[in-house]
Amino acid sequence: MTDDVVNKTRRRVLTAATSVVGAVGVVGAAVPFVGSWNPSAKAKAAGAPVRANIGKMEPGQMITVEWRGKPVYIVRRTQESIAGLEKVEDVLRDPNSEQPQQPEYAQNQTRSIREEFLVLLGLCTHLGCAPLFRPEVGVADLGGENWQGGFFCPCHGSKFDMAGRVYTGVPAPLNLEVPPHRYEGDNLLIVGEDQEA
Ligand code: FES
Repeated sequence: MTDDVVNKTRRRVLTAATSVVGAVGVVGAAVPFVGSWNPSAKAKAAGAPVRANIGKMEPGQMITVEWRGKPVYIVRRTQESIAGLEKVEDVLRDPNSEQPQQPEYAQNQTRSIREEFLVLLGLCTHLGCAPLFRPEVGVADLGGENWQGGFFCPCHGSKFDMAGRVYTGVPAPLNLEVPPHRYEGDNLLIVGEDQEA
């Protein structure tokens, strides 16, 4: 083979490799859009309920869907996280969820319908930043043994536990809000519609 032929062949191989990487990139980017079979963007902005398939969520995992233009965090708690809720109650501002930050059916220790699943608006009750999911237990920068996993707001340092309950001594005044929601069967969560009484 002459040098020219070798160079052309290499170029073809490189072009093919780049196309494969491009295709993988597109698939990867599509993953976060959990609700591709959800209502149109216009209907969603108007407040249509949003459906999320939670059947494949692993314990400890969080996914985000959008409802009424707001992020909704859906967390599948581990058994360790559920047990940790009790351990931090002394350092929470409203551990019994007395403020109306959740529908009546979520006014319990886990602030949820199903113990395992937490559904929250991902908006800090201080000035509306998006809190970060920090599920690691006992990390020193978030309070050591007073930290059983939860959410940390990077804007001004507010902290919330694994039920979205706010810690004392932080700027956020209230627990994170639990939006109306209900389940259809084992795997489908509907955000924006209340569970029937
Ligand atoms: S917006 Fe979250 S602490 Fe200020």
